[in-house]
Amino acid sequence: MAQLDVNTLIGAAIAARNLAYAPYSRFQVGAAVLSSSGRIFSGGNIENASYPLAMCAERVAIYSAYAAGECELQALAVVTPTSDVASPCGACRQVILELAPHARIILLNLTGAIRYTSPNELLPYGFGPAQLNDQ
Ligand code: THU
Repeated sequence: MAQLDVNTLIGAAIAARNLAYAPYSRFQVGAAVLSSSGRIFSGGNIENASYPLAMCAERVAIYSAYAAGECELQALAVVTPTSDVASPCGACRQVILELAPHARIILLNLTGAIRYTSPNELLPYGFGPAQLNDQ
């Protein structure tokens, strides 16, 4: 993946924080994915007065790509307003492992901290479709 693509993806994730609907936590997260056809899909976290219904930014971005028929995701960037990079919640790790298994994962904060990781590093020994076909 070209550095230009990485920078563009990071820019989209940062911009997506403004699309977050986070009136309860006031913790705005932005995420963006790059599909193999070169398209970028982004989103912010979307909360609800019924708190458990909140949807993380990562899943908003990934599901947006899938909803557009883009199912080969090359990279995912996630931006959090934390002092160091944060890392995706358990639910997002499960979704990333299945829907973006080959994606390069880029975690960032707003002050220059950056960490590159992978779906397998985020969720080692995860449950997946292979287990369903192995009963
Ligand atoms: N959140 C995300 O969107 N992504 C993460 O990686 C961590 C948490 C959201 C969920 C909720 O809206 C708020 O941040 C506080 O947990």
